[in-house]
Amino acid sequence: MVRIVHGEDMYEAVLFASSGTGAVEAVLSSVVPRDKSVLIINNGAYGKRMQQICDGYGISHIDYNITWGDPVNSKKLENILERHKKEISHIAFIHHETTVGILNDITAISAIARKFGVETIVDAMSSFAGIQINIKRSDIHYLIASTNKCIQAMAGLSFVICKQESLEKSKEIKPRNFYFNLYQNYVFFAQKHEMQFTPPVQIFYALRQAINEYFLETGPGREQRYSEMYEVLEKGLRELGFHYLVEKKYHSKILTAIIEPDSNNYSFTKMHDYLDQRGYTIYPGKGAKQNTFRLANMGAITKDDITGFLSSLKGYLIVNDIKLSPVKQTV
Ligand SMILES: Cc1ncc(COP(=O)(O)O)c(C=O)c1O
Repeated sequence: MVRIVHGEDMYEAVLFASSGTGAVEAVLSSVVPRDKSVLIINNGAYGKRMQQICDGYGISHIDYNITWGDPVNSKKLENILERHKKEISHIAFIHHETTVGILNDITAISAIARKFGVETIVDAMSSFAGIQINIKRSDIHYLIASTNKCIQAMAGLSFVICKQESLEKSKEIKPRNFYFNLYQNYVFFAQKHEMQFTPPVQIFYALRQAINEYFLETGPGREQRYSEMYEVLEKGLRELGFHYLVEKKYHSKILTAIIEPDSNNYSFTKMHDYLDQRGYTIYPGKGAKQNTFRLANMGAITKDDITGFLSSLKGYLIVNDIKLSPVKQTV
């Protein structure tokens, strides 16, 4: 997993038997010194969740809140860092904010962090293995993901790819918890070659197979396949007349937030159930600046799956007499 993000020799993976949020909680609770603050970028539900975790532990955090669906403004980020440079030790943010399908620029944000001498905590839950990340070049200190998204294994494990040097420094911080202490879990594994607590063995088998499949497909191969599936989906949706929340240049190409049709005949629940009966699962929106529904093209999905989905979606629009105005400019 360290190799997937090109972190050999400088990084270590620390695993937890939990869903992804567990690893986010492990990092935030274990690495921010007690007399420092973490700057949290919030442009979606998962950025907000980081703030909630810090509130739960009483960890001091400075928030850069952005309307959900809008990108990070580098100037504003620098201003916040400038204003609080004495207290901030870390910047925490989401790489692919799955709430809206926006990609925050990992390298640009890390470069700003470096300029101010702060470490980076990146939630790459829905981009790890789906989008190429070079953890050394982007100078990320902690990168978090789980086994059930673009790596295409099963839910049940989360992990953090940690810069060894930073991990070693974190041992000076008096633990705020037990099960989720990053350094303790790391040391136990390093010394005993097994997890500190009962591992979900079945998930490890799935993960091993998923890693083999990843290296067979190759990193660039997987990114390209996801991107191609997105292009098929995007073109089909545009032809049907749907509009998108996020500008194409910021788009992750893994999850798309689509603005809900402005029609009295439209109901998300009915559309969901219509598609579900035909074998397709879609997501509701999640509190973005406009009402949306969401489509993911993550996983072992083929062009046939997407064209089949698009024709079912068209069927739903026709049966319910929902008319959409075609998108004029390229979004
Ligand atoms: C970016 C991001 N962070 C965190 C999470 C939370 O992961 P989990 O539900 O596995 O705890 C998700 C889940 O979709 C996510 O997309």
